[in-house]
Amino acid sequence: MTRLRYFAASVVSTGVVALVCSISLVSFAGAQASTTTVAAAPAAGHGPSSKTDLLARGEYLARAGDCIACHTAPAGKLFGGGLGMLTPFGTLYTPNISSDKQYGIGRWNADEFYKMLHTGKSRDGTLLYPAMPFAAYTRVTRADSDAMFAYMVSTPPIAVPSRPHDLKFPYNKRSLLIGWRSLYFRQGEYRPDPAMSVEWNRGAYLVEGLGHCSMCHTAINALGGSSASKAFEGGLIPMQDWYAPSLTSNKEAGLGEWSIPEIADLLQAGVSERGAVYGPMAQVVHDSLQHLSDEDIRAMAVYLKSLPERSGAPPAPPTQQVTEEKNRLFPLGQKIYEAQCAVCHRADGHGMPPHFPPLANNPSIEMDSAVNPIRMVLNGGYAPGTAKNPTPYGMPPFAQTLSDEEIAAVVTYIRTAWSNHGTPVTARDANALRSALLY
Ligand code: HEC
Ligand code: HEC
Ligand code: HEC
Repeated sequence: MTRLRYFAASVVSTGVVALVCSISLVSFAGAQASTTTVAAAPAAGHGPSSKTDLLARGEYLARAGDCIACHTAPAGKLFGGGLGMLTPFGTLYTPNISSDKQYGIGRWNADEFYKMLHTGKSRDGTLLYPAMPFAAYTRVTRADSDAMFAYMVSTPPIAVPSRPHDLKFPYNKRSLLIGWRSLYFRQGEYRPDPAMSVEWNRGAYLVEGLGHCSMCHTAINALGGSSASKAFEGGLIPMQDWYAPSLTSNKEAGLGEWSIPEIADLLQAGVSERGAVYGPMAQVVHDSLQHLSDEDIRAMAVYLKSLPERSGAPPAPPTQQVTEEKNRLFPLGQKIYEAQCAVCHRADGHGMPPHFPPLANNPSIEMDSAVNPIRMVLNGGYAPGTAKNPTPYGMPPFAQTLSDEEIAAVVTYIRTAWSNHGTPVTARDANALRSALLY
């Protein structure tokens, strides 16, 4: 199977599905966006009707929607499909959507393509699994859909049949999707908010539509808990064991404190003064966001920055047991930190941004879920190589050199030192993630 980048998951009491999942975004070709109110500026010097412009715009939009990354297997042919998406219910394989008349979408027309993006139904009416992020793509304008379609059918046909999904009963029954759709799917193009700026509307259109950011980032939740609504909100990406923080909650991503240029750097370069991206978000930046224009990235940052913070209930004061655990692990954690981590992240936790991210006051390591910092320490990683940061710095893995207890100690240390507000983690938490898939 190919690298597992995408997933989905979660069940609903009705027995339905809920693919939550994961994606990545786009990349581009210098193009421009649509001519509606959510459009970016038109390309200088070219008539909007030029065929080349249309195809370039379509490619740009397809990268913004990450169609390419999802519908192209690693080392596979463009739009040939075949990428495996692991879910708790089995594996979905992305279909061939090349211009091939037999195996791809070569016989579709622009109306049918728009209808599919808009309604989540294939050409013959088959209900699509939401691993295809139509719940977000329904926001895409007709003009943008047409440009993408024109581009896609201009690419070479790939004469390879789509691989059938391998889903367990009852998830292989598409009729279950009716329940999912009635709970979670609201059809409709993006409607600009006249009270907000053109830039904000452009950002909202991209984030809520093609960007399908909410497939991974949703409101804070109980980690894919048992209720249907919470399940879909889940920030923990099933099977992948990465946590996508809420982008609105101050306790999570906490973008409230970030400046617009800092958010834009993170999205486009993959590194910033505040932190770096890693895990599935690094793929989103690599495959998609780094290719977007400066204007579109800034618009997205403007929109993200404006999202209201949901403060929720204040955190309960730590129990005595938690405090004792922290006090027990902290000194060991500090010792390990000073010996193994301070060289890059500095003793005061300020790092050397943008290449060595700060750990002090970095919300991405203070979240309730400690999955991400534990995995970073176990596996290390690289920020993505991007046009604006072509030679990213890396962090070494510590899975071989530190015991579960030592991992727990150092992660507890970075989550609670320097007035960070995280909670301690246990050796069991660390152990559980040793077997997580490296994407
Ligand atoms: C997260 C991965 C993912 C992304 C991103 C994604 N798709 Fe899909 N797509 C899928 C999967 C999985 C299916 C199959 C769904 C099913 O069988 O119900 C699918 C189905 C489709 C189909 C239906 C094919 C058919 O024969 O019925 C089309 C067309 C399509 N995608 C186009 C696109 C376009 C255009 C984009 C970008 C705007 C895109 N996809 C982005 C995963 C993805
Ligand atoms: C495939 C799932 C996935 C998709 C799609 C995705 N993200 Fe993420 N994102 C993550 C994960 C996991 C993290 C945590 C790792 C990290 O901070 O790099 C994250 C982190 C972030 C952060 C950093 C938060 C912080 O505090 O450091 C921002 C900002 C962000 N994402 C914005 C976006 C935007 C905007 C989009 C849509 C254009 C998007 N993401 C799409 C999975 C995803
Ligand atoms: C050789 C330099 C180096 C060392 C040593 C190092 N790191 Fe890192 N660390 C990095 C780099 C570079 C990144 C960004 C990687 C990425 O984006 O994938 C990073 C990222 C992180 C992150 C995620 C930061 C964020 O923005 O959310 C955490 C947590 C972390 N390191 C903890 C540690 C701990 C704990 C140790 C010691 C056990 C350590 N690091 C040792 C270089 C280092």
